[in-house]
Amino acid sequence: MTEKDDHTIADLIHDETFDMDPEEIRKIGYQMVDLLVEYFKDMRTSAILPNKTLQEMSKLIYEPLPQNEQTADKILDECKKKIMPEMIRIGHPRLLGWILSSGTPVGAFADGVASALNQNVSVSGAGMATAVELLVIDWIKEIIGYDPCAAGLLVSGGSLANLTALTVARNMKANFNVRHCGMKQDRLDKNMVLYVSKEVHVCVPKAANILGIGTDNIRYVNVDHNLRVDTEDLRKKIVEDQKNGLHPFCVVASAGTVNTGAIDPLESIADICKQYDLWFHVDAAYGGFAALSSRLKPLLNGIERADSIAIDPHKWLFIPYEAGCVLVKNSSYMKQTFAMGAEYIHANTSPISNEDVDFSDYGIQLSRNFRALKIWMSLKQYGVLKYGRLIDQNVHLIQYFAALINETTDFETLTDPCLSIICFRFFPTDLQKMYNDSSSIQKEMISEYLNVLNRDIIECMRRDGRILLSSTILGKRFVLRACVVNYRTTKKDIVMILEIVRELGSKSDKKLRKPF
Ligand SMILES: Cc1ncc(COP(=O)(O)O)c(C=O)c1O
Repeated sequence: MTEKDDHTIADLIHDETFDMDPEEIRKIGYQMVDLLVEYFKDMRTSAILPNKTLQEMSKLIYEPLPQNEQTADKILDECKKKIMPEMIRIGHPRLLGWILSSGTPVGAFADGVASALNQNVSVSGAGMATAVELLVIDWIKEIIGYDPCAAGLLVSGGSLANLTALTVARNMKANFNVRHCGMKQDRLDKNMVLYVSKEVHVCVPKAANILGIGTDNIRYVNVDHNLRVDTEDLRKKIVEDQKNGLHPFCVVASAGTVNTGAIDPLESIADICKQYDLWFHVDAAYGGFAALSSRLKPLLNGIERADSIAIDPHKWLFIPYEAGCVLVKNSSYMKQTFAMGAEYIHANTSPISNEDVDFSDYGIQLSRNFRALKIWMSLKQYGVLKYGRLIDQNVHLIQYFAALINETTDFETLTDPCLSIICFRFFPTDLQKMYNDSSSIQKEMISEYLNVLNRDIIECMRRDGRILLSSTILGKRFVLRACVVNYRTTKKDIVMILEIVRELGSKSDKKLRKPF
């Protein structure tokens, strides 16, 4: 390079920066705080669902790729006027669909702090972020009564927690070195077989698919009348597969199924896993934090015997998305499964310690954000005693819902609530009478009509906007499903939800009913 070139290159550098003036950051920060405070304040009175279709929303925000600078003020204003009003109000007290939890306000601000700190909580020397994550994982283990020596990792949510745990289970239980050989599930008579409940969350078969177990090698175990794993059927299926030379390797039990909140008989499943030398995994994504309630904790007895657990702080710990957690009892197994030993990752950047907690060795992600901060702040702000009361309150609200339904003549409950989920349907009084007195063919016709009727209620609910529940199928029945993982929902909301479902149901019935 000549001296002349050097000058030319130096002339090309104009010291451009993305840095903002501190006063500008402060101003925009204050405006953002105001925006969020308004959002939380108006939660109860705002529409639950956006008014616009996806096409309309896309049109509203469309612009060509920005070429030039815009002011932060202008961008924030656009966010306020165009983006924020068209949100699904997760956290609205009458949004009881799926398992959507109302995130803690402090959790939202913690995410802002975490982003500003911009830690990459994978590599050694991630400093305090690693220490906070380790502490939070210890707290989670303590809450559910799990082995304090177990290893753990914060992940995006239940799907990733289950996938991570099942990867460990597969590698540790394979009779060959999966890391070297890859999966060989075409050995037919030696295939590794996974046992799950018929009520298992779809992310588990998805994990089996990703892991090369193959969905043909999943056994769906029957459930009892409470939709809990039938342990006799589980044992029968394992024995049958063993007889055929297959390799049963893992049972996934649920501590709070997504459909009804059922908790599988964890102790009995742990016994079966011990007897047949199977990995015992518990998907406690939803129900795990029921352990915060001393009243509910005994329902989870046996979870401490699990080889691995998936549990979601972004469900019943009310942490804003994304926050999942995976725990593995044998603390060396995660590393044995995931550590790949790349030199460029493992350079220790900490000047004062060479303790090696490289979270990238524990799971799939390398770059990871500082998820632990929002969990740490929320647990400290409320304390586990208040958390326990809130969880009890959610469960009592659903029991209250069930009691109200059972007093009516135009609804029926389909399950007894175990945690904070109720499945029910609108069943007009005269139809119930007709159903009781009718022949089996007529009963069938009424049942089909009830499915159509309740499906229509869900569609009308979306247009109506005052409440939002989700739905599922139990057996052949289409049912409405309410799940309270929400610290804003009150008794009044529950009464209002039932009244609105009745109002919508009566209208749908008038519209749809034909003589049987
Ligand atoms: C029992 C259960 N497992 C796993 C999941 C998946 O969790 P995530 O949505 O956080 O990936 C859910 C989600 O509702 C669930 O209810």
